[in-house]
Parts: sequence; C-alpha cells; structure tokens
Amino acid sequence: MIESTIRNLKDHQGREVMIKGWLYNKRSSGKIAFLQLRDGTGFVQGVAVKNELSDETFSLCKEISQESSIMVTGIVRKDDRAPSGYELTITSIQPVSLSAEYPITMKEHGIEFLMDFRHLWMRNPRQHATLTIRANINRAIREFLDSEGFVLIEPPIITANSCEGTTNLFELNYFDQKAYLSQTGQLYNEAAAMAFGKVYSFGPTFRAEKSKTRRHLNEFWMIEPEMAYFNHQDNMELQERLIEHIVKSILEKCSMELKTLNRDITQLEKIKAPFPRITYDTAVKMLQDNGFNFEWGGDFGAPDETFIAEQFDSPVFVEKFPVKIKAFYMEPDPENSNVILGADLLAPEGYGEIIGGSQRIHDYDLLLSKIKEEGLPIEAYQWYLDLRKYGTVPHSGFGLGLERTVAWICGIDHIRETIPFARTLNRITP
Ligand code: 4AD
Ligand code: MG
Repeated sequence: MIESTIRNLKDHQGREVMIKGWLYNKRSSGKIAFLQLRDGTGFVQGVAVKNELSDETFSLCKEISQESSIMVTGIVRKDDRAPSGYELTITSIQPVSLSAEYPITMKEHGIEFLMDFRHLWMRNPRQHATLTIRANINRAIREFLDSEGFVLIEPPIITANSCEGTTNLFELNYFDQKAYLSQTGQLYNEAAAMAFGKVYSFGPTFRAEKSKTRRHLNEFWMIEPEMAYFNHQDNMELQERLIEHIVKSILEKCSMELKTLNRDITQLEKIKAPFPRITYDTAVKMLQDNGFNFEWGGDFGAPDETFIAEQFDSPVFVEKFPVKIKAFYMEPDPENSNVILGADLLAPEGYGEIIGGSQRIHDYDLLLSKIKEEGLPIEAYQWYLDLRKYGTVPHSGFGLGLERTVAWICGIDHIRETIPFARTLNRITP
C-alpha cells in the first residue's frame, strides 16, 4: 500500500493510497457518506458508497465521530471542484482513536470561545491556511536575506536596555537586578552589523502595550535586518525588494491556502517595487485636506494610516517623521534637523504599518546627548555607545512585523489569528 499525504495526492491519480489523518467533518445520506479528511498537509473529501463497501466499513464511515484519528485507504480521483483538486473513493478505514464529543462544531462560535479552544481551533481550514502562509512568509524572508548574503544572528531576549520607549516594557527580576523582555533586537543587531556587515535577527519581541486593537499583540515576531554602510535610501530599497519577494513567493507556493481564505489575489498581484514614497509633511497635508483633525507633530492613529494607505495600490513609505515622535537612535535629516531619516511602510487595504525603519545615529556625541535627553541610564548603553567609538559608519535597518504582514497577505481582519497562540491584553492561555 502506498502512503501519501493529501498535498501529494496529485502524484497518485487512479491509484489506491493510504492517508493518515483525522476526520474533520462528515455528512451522509442513506447510501453515501462524505468524509472530510485532513492530515496536516491539506484537506480532501473521501466518498464512501454503501454497496462498494462491507456493511461494517460503511457503518463505521457513517458513525465515526468528528476529529477521530483515522487511517483511510481509497482511490485517488481528479475533481476540479475540490479545493485540493482531488477526491478519494474510500476502500477501507481504520480508526486510531475515536474522538470524544468535539467542542468546536460546524455552527458559528464566538471569537472568545474559539480563542479558548485555540489548541483545537488551529485544525480548522482557515486557521490552517493562515498558519501555513505564516510559515511560508517566514521561509521566504530567510530565503531572500540568506541569498543576499545576510548573516542570521540571535540577540538576547532578556536585556537591560529599552529601545522603543520606556512605557511598554515587561519588567522582570533578574537575580535582584532589573531586566526587561526585549522590545526589539536592534541595538544588538547594530553591534553585529559592525562585525558581519549585513545581519538579521528573527525572534519574538515583547511590548506591554495596553492596547486592544486588531493590530496589536503583546508578544509578536519581528524580522530585523541591519546593514553597515546603508543609508536611508538603501534601506527603503531593500525593504521594497523584500516585500515584493515575499508576496511573489506566497502567490506561487500558497495558492491553495489563499483560495481557502477567499483572498482577492488581484490585490497582491499588483505589489511591485518600487513603492511610492511620501513625506510625513505630505501625509499630514493629505489628512488635513480631507477633513481629518490632525496637527503636524502628532503620531498617526489607525484611521489616519488607513486613509493614507488607501490613496495607493501598493505599500507606501511615509518618511521623515518629526524627531519628537520617533525613537532616540534615529539619524536627523541633515537638511532639516526636526525630522528623521526613517520611514514607516504602510500596507495597502487598511493593514497599517508593517515596517518601521531608519538610518541610525552614528556620531558618538549626538547619540550620547539623545540618550541623556531620553533619560536612559548611560551605564546600560555604554556598550551601544562603544559602537560609535570604534570605527563608526553610517548604518540602517528596519523591523518587519511578521503578524501584521501575515494579516495583510491573508486578508485577515484581526492579528490574533495570525500567530499560533496569541498573547493579548486579556489572554495568556492556552
Ligand atoms: O516600528 P517598531 O516599533 O520598530 C522597532 O522596534 C525597530 N527597533 C525595528 C528596527 O529598526 N530594527 O516595530 C517594527 C514593526 C512595526 O512596523 C509593526 O509591524 C510591528 O513591528 N509591531 C507590532 N506588531 C504586532 N503587535 C505590536 N504590538 C507591534 N508593535 C510593533
Ligand atoms: Mg513603528
């Protein structure tokens, strides 16, 4: 007997194969039963016909409970209506473990109920498709950066440094010393860039933000490239090439998952570098001209970002934000010291900021004054200042939020579904 995964059924058309999986759902009428099977690689319908099977097998097909683990044998038939493109004519089934009554039924459930059962809900086709696309975005990013000669480095998660403001730190007691869960790997990546040229980190980051929006998690994953001898322009060019690569790769490799999610892929097919660039000043004017009550110097809220992004078909860079609303390490624009040489990349279709990036201050004295202004403890930043003392160079980098990118590419409303087990204001279980 040949064993196959559902994803590989295409290689076995007309043959009898065995699939090891679970029963996702079933329905039956008198003489026929339809078993929706899943095996981790995909979903396929098995058809059991009464007069082609023993009485015992057919009644098992009709009675087996939702989410039982089963090994199913059947003949692979092409079926253009099926999302997988194939169907299985069942010849025998072998239960491995009969499932107890499954809490997630085919009726509608509230979101909190589903999140309480996230450990089971991730088996659902939409959730499965989203997390499969997440894994593939992850792969596409590493593929791109590795092929560009970047070195993967791992910054620590426990740190004495804050980088993105001091108000959203998760504090912990580190043998009677104050420490934090990392908000970003950036400061360490800067050190590594001076050792390896082009580096990136890919890890979980933590923010104790008390916001309950569809764009915020308290634990999320960031991909953070950092490049020596890159200026602000070089930085944006790298970002748009990376995004273009990710989208192209998902369109190529995840068409089945995008279909499961009903994603309008014509929106994704438009994503081609270069992306438009507008300044913060222009963005503010755009808002003001369109009836938004927004003053220069303020930070964009979700509705502002959505409006700005809606004016474009592709992601758009908003660059040169006021110094006051951005992080202390950003290089001021030599032409206007009130704004910084950095940009946020806003995703189309209302998904908001997916990347924050900038050129970094490389001058020792300027950085020292910024650290003091920010009220940060100098001792904890001495090592970071050192980088400006021993062969400093202009350098740049950015952070791409994985979950927001997944939400945009999948066309999903809320970020909680883009990560296996979300950590939000009210949830640390399962
Ligand atoms: O703009 P941010 O705060 O940038 C940094 O942390 C830089 N130190 C990165 C760097 O230059 N190496 O965050 C970067 C991205 C945002 O654009 C957003 O996509 C995501 O991280 N992000 C969040 N995603 C989910 N939940 C949150 N609470 C997020 N906060 C930021
Ligand atoms: Mg940001």
